[in-house]
Amino acid sequence: MADKPLIAAAVAARSKAYAPYSRFLVGAAVKDETGAIHAGCNVENAAYPQGTCAEAGAVAAMVLAGGRKIVEAAVVGAGEGLVTPCGGCRQKLREFGSPGLAIHVCDETGMVKKSFTLEELLPSSFGPENLA
Ligand code: THU
Repeated sequence: MADKPLIAAAVAARSKAYAPYSRFLVGAAVKDETGAIHAGCNVENAAYPQGTCAEAGAVAAMVLAGGRKIVEAAVVGAGEGLVTPCGGCRQKLREFGSPGLAIHVCDETGMVKKSFTLEELLPSSFGPENLA
């Protein structure tokens, strides 16, 4: 069962997205080990590769607030397809999430279209413990 405030935070974040080039607005939110929710939106750039994804913003906000573990995540976007995290963002979530981390992929209203585990999106992943 997806956390409603988590999804609401992602929906609200999407409304702040800066995406003048793709016009594809994305919001994301992560819940940390204390239950605090941190959100982010995509921020594009005229130098296209410098744009950042919503998930990256949410992860950065969590770290700034002191969170170090993601216990649930949500991504919100419009369109027919699923707005699943890109490869780089899967790895960013991996840094702070366990294999069973639930990642809810939602439409722009916050309706969950599909939920994945991190392991499903990034199997056989490399993480902090590989460096221990
Ligand atoms: N984007 C995200 O922010 N998160 C995703 O999960 C998929 C894609 C952004 C990147 C870019 O600003 C726009 O969506 C189109 O790719």
